[in-house]
Formats: sequence, structure tokens, C-alpha cells
Amino acid sequence: MINLYPVLKPFLMAVEPEAAHRAALGLLKSGLAPRYRHDDAALRCEVFGHVFANPLGLAAGFDKDAEVIAPMLRMGFGFVEAGTVTPLAQEGNPAPRLFRDVKNKSIINRLGFPGRGLEYFVAQVSDFRVAQGAGAAADGMLGINIGINKETASAFEDYSRCLSALAPMADYIVVNVSSPNTPGLRDLQSENMLDALLAGLMAVLNSLDIPPVARPVLLLKVAPDLTSDQRAAVAQLALRHHIGGLVVSNTTVARPEMLAPHLREEAGGLSGALLKDHACAVLGDFYRLTDGRLPLIGVGGISSAEDAWQRIRAGASLVQVYTGLIYEGPALVPDILRGLTARVRAAGMAHISEAVGADIDLAAPRAEAAA
Ligand SMILES: Cc1cc2nc3c(=O)[nH]c(=O)nc-3n(C[C@H](O)[C@H](O)[C@H](O)COP(=O)(O)O)c2cc1C
Repeated sequence: MINLYPVLKPFLMAVEPEAAHRAALGLLKSGLAPRYRHDDAALRCEVFGHVFANPLGLAAGFDKDAEVIAPMLRMGFGFVEAGTVTPLAQEGNPAPRLFRDVKNKSIINRLGFPGRGLEYFVAQVSDFRVAQGAGAAADGMLGINIGINKETASAFEDYSRCLSALAPMADYIVVNVSSPNTPGLRDLQSENMLDALLAGLMAVLNSLDIPPVARPVLLLKVAPDLTSDQRAAVAQLALRHHIGGLVVSNTTVARPEMLAPHLREEAGGLSGALLKDHACAVLGDFYRLTDGRLPLIGVGGISSAEDAWQRIRAGASLVQVYTGLIYEGPALVPDILRGLTARVRAAGMAHISEAVGADIDLAAPRAEAAA
């Protein structure tokens, strides 16, 4: 991979964060993205009934309108999670709404699901699938993250519309109930509301005219700010409704001591290095709460092979990055994949799946281990 990021990074960091993101998307669309392929059978993993070439994915929010799935897969990711998509196009919150804490390699965002809406998103994914079918787009798995419009009569109807339209094209679907930037959204994680939501969406998914082998699994993306009791309730509901897994976690509304003082009062979700330890602890707790029976996608502050390895050992079957990619650039992908290969070998393992949950003692009482 030719790595131009060290040259580009000072320019991208000098401009306003959203402009930098638009510039990055422009470069990706123009075919200038670096390419990398990591072939290692020890990293290939079977999760949600699909074979992933490697366990490293792009987290939701980077490719909100499903415009750069193929270039991101060509960059070496085993999977891309596109979205969050909402039924109707919307502007999101007023700018400024994205803030960097460069020293702490962290970000606060309160974008509020800006996007071009479901119709455009469906067309983009269809184009990608056609190209993939013709062998013209990269291999790799596609997750789709679904949400709701700010102005909505029914959250359930919004999710249901997105699910019905996108299930035939997705390898997995994520119900996002954890963004802090859409009023009321995170309340859907409360026990009664989540129970009803999961029952309803599983019924919709099972009613769709899709052959069972092609039907995507439904995952739930959770906030890192759930209390211990709330996590226990979410885990029980996930198991009871037989959903496919959990994405742990979204951004946090917490404001750690270390955060740059001028960002302390900015509303929004914090991501990046300042989220890492907590996201990892919460993931480990969910692994324990689900008894290691539910595949977990670990996300939050991962920016090195060691971070990814630690997340896998805490119970993640797959991991994702977003903020780390902004600060480290595309070279992060080969760095993490090569580092994972080296760690699997050094641990004397034949395959990375042996490392999943290796640091969690499922027999130990939860209270001692909970975050
Ligand atoms: C600018 C930005 C936009 C995001 N948008 C979404 C989104 O639309 N949907 C979602 O589920 N998560 C979104 N996220 C959260 C990420 O997917 C991820 O869960 C979180 O940032 C923690 O991972 P990281 O520390 O590697 O960034 C966004 C994060 C950032 C920084």
C-alpha cells in the first residue's frame, strides 16, 4: 500500500472536520484510495452465518449514504457497516457539530443522522451488489445500520421501512438505538420499549420474502452509558428474541477528566481513545451476560492491533474502527491485520476465534468483573 496519509493528514486536520470528511469521501470515490489485501486463513472467521475474510470492519457513520462501500473493502476491511440510514433525507443538526480533540485522538459529534434518505441508499447498495455480482467490486461483508428521522410519527415504522427495504441486500442489519443525537432514541433501550421493538422487528424480518439462507441477522447497537442493570436487561432481551448479536458500543455522553477543556460543554457523543477502556469493559460485561453465546462486534477507541486483540480477548468476534482511522489513516488497516496475525501466532493459536473471550472468566461472579 502506498501511504499518502502522512502527507495528506496536515491538510485534512487543518480544515474544518466535516469538510475534511467530505474531501476524504471525494478521494475515495475518485478511486484514489489505497488498496490492501491480507490473506491469512487464521483471521478468516465465520460469524452470523457468513465468512468474513478478516474480523476488522469500518464502523457506522463514516459511510452514511453507502457511497464508498467498495473502496473501503478494497482498503482491506473484512466488512463495512454503512449508515445510519433514515427513511427520509434530513439535514441533521446545525453546524458546527463535529469537534476534534487531537491531543486525545478523540472526537465529539452531534451530527444527528444527516443523510440522503432510504431511496438513495437503496440505489447505492443495489449498484454495489450488481458490481459485486459481476466481480467488479471488492469482496467483503456488508452490514447496514438503520435509524429513525428526527421528525417521525413512529420509530417502529421508520425502522420497519428501512429493514424491509434493505434486508434483501444486507449481510447483517443493525438497529441503532444508541445515538445520543436524536431526541428520544436512546430511550428505546429501556426494557419495555426494547422488548416491543425487537419483537416487532423480528416479526417483520421473518415475514419478508427472503429465503432463510439469504436472510440477514438483526443486531442491536448499544450505548456505553447503560447502567449495569440496564445492560443485564438488554442482554436478556437479546437472547430471548434470538437476535443475531450486539454492537458494543456507540459514542458516550460521558466527559472524562482528560477531555480538552474547551470541548467539555459541547453536546454530542464522544468517540476515540477516551472511550477505549470503558467500551472494552462494557463489551466484556456483555460477553459475560450473554454467556459467550451471542456474537459481539467490539467498537470504541480501537486504534492499534493491540487494541483490537484486547477487544477480541474481551469477547468480540469482530471489531470496528472509525475515529482511529481519522487519526491514523488507512495504514491502520494493514497495521491491525498484520498485528493480529502476529498475535495469533505468538499465542500458539491456529485461529483467531480461539482468542474470542479468552480474558473473560465466565465462571467468575459478574459483580467483580462488571464495569
Ligand atoms: C463522526 C461520527 C459519526 C458517527 N455516526 C454514526 C452513525 O450514523 N451511526 C452509528 O451507529 N454510529 C455512528 N458513530 C459511532 C461509531 O460507529 C462508533 O460506534 C463510535 O465512534 C466508537 O468507535 P470509534 O472510537 O472507533 O470511533 C459515529 C461516530 C463518529 C465519530
